[in-house]
Amino acid sequence: MTERDMKYYFTVEDSVQVVQDRAGPNADLRVKFVTDTLVKHLHAFIKEAKPTMDEWMYGIEFLTRTGHLSTDWRQEFILLSDTLGISMLVESLNNDKMSGETESTVLGPFYIANAPRYENGANICLDGKGPPVWVEGRVTDAAGRPIAEATLDVWQANEDGFYDVQQKGVQPDMNLRGVFTSDADGSYYFRSAYPRYYPIPFDGSVGDMLRALDRNAYRPAHLHFIVSAPGYEKVTTHIFTPDCPWLKEDAVFGVKESLIADFHDIDDPARAKLLGLPNPYKSVEWNFVLAKAT
Ligand code: BEZ
Ligand code: FE
Repeated sequence: MTERDMKYYFTVEDSVQVVQDRAGPNADLRVKFVTDTLVKHLHAFIKEAKPTMDEWMYGIEFLTRTGHLSTDWRQEFILLSDTLGISMLVESLNNDKMSGETESTVLGPFYIANAPRYENGANICLDGKGPPVWVEGRVTDAAGRPIAEATLDVWQANEDGFYDVQQKGVQPDMNLRGVFTSDADGSYYFRSAYPRYYPIPFDGSVGDMLRALDRNAYRPAHLHFIVSAPGYEKVTTHIFTPDCPWLKEDAVFGVKESLIADFHDIDDPARAKLLGLPNPYKSVEWNFVLAKAT
């Protein structure tokens, strides 16, 4: 760039270029590209929204409060990203499933890496609350070939709408979470409780935003899964129940149509006894399709 093309002094018209031109010749190319794009869109946003000085200061204080609320236990910035649809956008752009593989969705803040390993058939509902549910299915590749020894990491909220980590001392530790391994034919199965909808934490800056926008804080009822196997792409996903009143209004936009399952009401005392469940119970069959690792 010639000396004459450079913009040194700030004007509203040239605001983007003045800031972008300040980078030096040794700038990291990816950082420069991402920052230039951010500046371009942020300046356009400010020029369109035209915040007053008070509104701009409110924005600064909002982000400051969001930072202060973020700890090892609570990540208000991720919640902000989730509720603005940013998490789902990044996730969807990076996990474009073209060949019928299981679609992914948000991880959320309640995953724990060291959940107990169980044999297939185990019951992960340690507090005994909620309608009993039987979950079964297979893990396969896109051609339907079984994937043996796949790891299925599952977690969900309890009947009261809380994860175990949100209710230390109230729920048993590791309630409603477990790690299963698929059999030689790719099958997996376990007992649990029918999941319930629950609110995301709304006592912080994100909650203030949701209230100001007259938005709800609910996540529709779901089970979380991370399914992985050597040689395949790991998928972080959910199974949603079909009858949840919040299905179309997920506070974090995590619902994809392909992730809504059919849960059946089963009234079969002999089968219930065989599975170790009270009768009646609910049952869902859900197959996971993994993409080959690239
Ligand atoms: C969850 O599903 O656990 C979750 C996801 C995003 C924000 C809060 C909770
Ligand atoms: Fe969840």
